[in-house]
Amino acid sequence: MGEPIQPIKGMNDVLPEEIGTWQYFEACTRELLAAYGYEEIRVPIVEHTELFKRAIGEHTDVVGKEMYTFTDRGGESLTLRPEATAGIVRALISNGLLRGQRHKLWCLGPMFRHEAPQAGRYRQFWQVDVEAVGWPGPDVDAELIALGTRLWERLGIASGLRLEINSLGTPESRRAYRERLVEYLLAHEARLDADSRRRLTVNPLRVLDSKNPQMLEIIAGAPLLSEHLDPESRAHFDALCDRLRAVGVSYEVNPRLVRGLDYYHRTVFEWIMPVSGAQNAVCSGGRYDGLIAQLGGESTPAIGFAMGVERLVARVLAVRGAVRAAPPDVYVVVSGARAEAQALELIERLRSERPRLRFELNLGGGNFKAQFRRADKSGAPLALIIGDDELARGVVAMKPLRAESVQSECPIAALAAGVDAALAAATRVHRAAAS
Ligand code: HAM
Repeated sequence: MGEPIQPIKGMNDVLPEEIGTWQYFEACTRELLAAYGYEEIRVPIVEHTELFKRAIGEHTDVVGKEMYTFTDRGGESLTLRPEATAGIVRALISNGLLRGQRHKLWCLGPMFRHEAPQAGRYRQFWQVDVEAVGWPGPDVDAELIALGTRLWERLGIASGLRLEINSLGTPESRRAYRERLVEYLLAHEARLDADSRRRLTVNPLRVLDSKNPQMLEIIAGAPLLSEHLDPESRAHFDALCDRLRAVGVSYEVNPRLVRGLDYYHRTVFEWIMPVSGAQNAVCSGGRYDGLIAQLGGESTPAIGFAMGVERLVARVLAVRGAVRAAPPDVYVVVSGARAEAQALELIERLRSERPRLRFELNLGGGNFKAQFRRADKSGAPLALIIGDDELARGVVAMKPLRAESVQSECPIAALAAGVDAALAAATRVHRAAAS
């Protein structure tokens, strides 16, 4: 026997016992996105490396340290997507979908970043990415944030989630601010940690994002971007805050929220979990009005966010417990040689007659007792018993599993209707017993 092959560090399997909670999260999300007019888009997991360098920025941690980049057999440099916005923008441009058109899009899938794995931070992680392309805002900014807030309520995890918002202004206003910030940081250079010193030369705004407690005092004294906003960005931000208040969305203005990707303009936001640590953002995003032109498309305003699915699923698990995948409606117990030969045919016919019902046919034999144990464990409310004796009399036996109730028989010719009636009765009795 060979050595078992190990999974890749930071890349997780989602097992059947967890999938019910993932599916619950995905179903709530899909339904709400459709209700707000968002359409699903699927883009490749691999893109030209150049796309991410140009979109996210060469000096960001994501591009500088975290990308899974490789040369393919044709000699091209390709990268596993570290996020979805760049690929979606590329898809809009390559498919000629801009030209004054507007799009509300969403995408679900795995992203890849070579970070140090720990709870809540993985090397393959899933995002639901949501993008509104073509609206300058601030109405769409507010609607997008209201959508997120409504999703947390529907999922039952709103309590404790905190929304932080900020405006990064335009590249011009940010340039002026950057100079002030660099002056301030240089005056405190001796107290900066190595990471902040590196950021000071390549991307000084990111110093404000440092998670090092020793840096907090210096960051607290830094000049604020909000004091250097251009008048249009200020008006945009004020109008966004007014609209959020009007729809009852609570938020906190965090003047030091800068985000880790370079493409943001004006509005940025993040929902934070009530736990300490760097892995506490469950959903983050912002406006990226310059990105589409930067990637070669027609200049088009856009805003979006991405949810971290593992972090949100963990929150659902912590707050309301695991959501189990639906059990079968009927477990089929089979007893005797003739029954074993005929059961499949009988159940296949039933599946055709009742396409929405879930049947679990006992496969691989086993004695009566063991089969009933499996039937109980399956969670089905009803067992069908196909036995040689019953078949000889042209009937199948039925037994409710979740409530005290007697076994009955149903003629094979009327089995579909018999199953309907027995299921309805079993669910009624079960509900009455539970109340
Ligand atoms: P981001 O902040 O890099 O933004 O990631 C969004 C979310 O993905 C985070 O809030 C977090 O929940 C989750 N996440 C990020 N990295 C990891 C990781 N290593 N492990 C687990 N979860 C993680 C973006 O990706 C932007 N594309 C969002 C956006 C869309 N902006 C505009 N449109």
